[in-house]
Amino acid sequence: MFTPHTTCRACGYGPPANAHYFKSETSKDKLESILNLGSLPLANSFPRGLDPRPGHYPLELLACPKCHLGQLSVVVDPVTLYSNYLYVTSTSQTLEDHILLLHEWLRGLGSFKSVVEIGSNDGRVLQIMRRLGAEFVLGIDPAKNLAKKATEDGIQTIDGMFDRDSVGRASDILSPVGADLILARHVFCHVDNWKEFLRNAALLSHGTTMLCIEAPWAHDTIQKVEWDQIYHEHLSYFTLRALDFAVKGTGWKLYAVRRFAIHGGALAVVLVPDLSDIRLPNNSVEEYMELERCAPGNWKGFALQAVSQQNNLKQMINELLENHQKIAGYGATAKSTTWANVLKLNRSQIYGFYDSTSLKQYTTVPGTDIPVIPEGGFYVDNPDVAIIWAWNFAEEIIRKNVKWTSQGGRFILPVPTPKFV
Ligand code: TMP
Repeated sequence: MFTPHTTCRACGYGPPANAHYFKSETSKDKLESILNLGSLPLANSFPRGLDPRPGHYPLELLACPKCHLGQLSVVVDPVTLYSNYLYVTSTSQTLEDHILLLHEWLRGLGSFKSVVEIGSNDGRVLQIMRRLGAEFVLGIDPAKNLAKKATEDGIQTIDGMFDRDSVGRASDILSPVGADLILARHVFCHVDNWKEFLRNAALLSHGTTMLCIEAPWAHDTIQKVEWDQIYHEHLSYFTLRALDFAVKGTGWKLYAVRRFAIHGGALAVVLVPDLSDIRLPNNSVEEYMELERCAPGNWKGFALQAVSQQNNLKQMINELLENHQKIAGYGATAKSTTWANVLKLNRSQIYGFYDSTSLKQYTTVPGTDIPVIPEGGFYVDNPDVAIIWAWNFAEEIIRKNVKWTSQGGRFILPVPTPKFV
């Protein structure tokens, strides 16, 4: 159900995961252990009713001394990981605003009429792209329920992993030309074989195609102590330095980079075909490479801060409970599964996690007995305090609940240091 991961997927550093691995337990050329969170359930496998409870798998972060990529020590079998996958792109103003910004930036880098999105989820982003002028859009997503829904909603979507099969189907649809823009937002860090992913993307390209990879940037994860981004789906914690190693021999080269605020800090990197003679538009690749601070020493500092952040929130919760405060969670996010399991939270401490995603409602938080309650129930249950687990949407959540806060409700933001906001 899972395989050990010992060799850096970007630069190849570290021993292979076979007999030599055990021999190399004492050797120095291993990926460095940064933070071991123990054995945790899959973060997005919210069980409903009598559904079997999700299995637990090791969750340990390693870092590569050569390219600084953060990566998990195991790879859970994708079929296990995505078989009960309830992540749906949020309908949120924050996402909408971000896509507008991203689109504007991409338009400044090159023209595109056709857009293919890898990991297109329910097609929400492609809908926005179409509204902004894309003439042809095509999605690819492994979640059959979401691919079907997207297609029904007018966004043609191929259901499948991003492999040779789905690439073949996409090529047929795009024939005789490839895609002008290939979008891979928050999917790259879910991928085990980076080179294969990049080579498959190259099969959909033509001479001036732009491939835009957007991923949470490890630099921000470290700076803002976003340790709760660590869960089994996120096989990697992205560094630009790692991508620079990985692109070699895949048909792509780095072209432009920009940092965005979405999801706690993400880097969008545009790649263009290796052989194209398009000149770099600016020095952004070089500049971000210099800015990035993700060496194992930085990762270790992050791990120390993560543990103190966990202890701080646990202490705040204990004090609130001693004062008979009713505590809720806002957003049943993958991050909240990590928090709930690491802090060993249960229903007697946290009344429920409130969430707007209908697929998650009336389930329980993986590994706990805490129910996921429809967001509307928040006002009925009227907790005293709510921890914003969807902290990447904090502003939006605070804004829409001013009625509750004006009546005395208090929000806690768990990162970078747990505090009332
Ligand atoms: P994410 O952080 O993994 O993108 O998930 C955000 C979750 O937060 C998602 O399950 C929907 C939920 N959410 C709400 O319940 N209410 C809101 O207002 C927003 C913005 C998100």
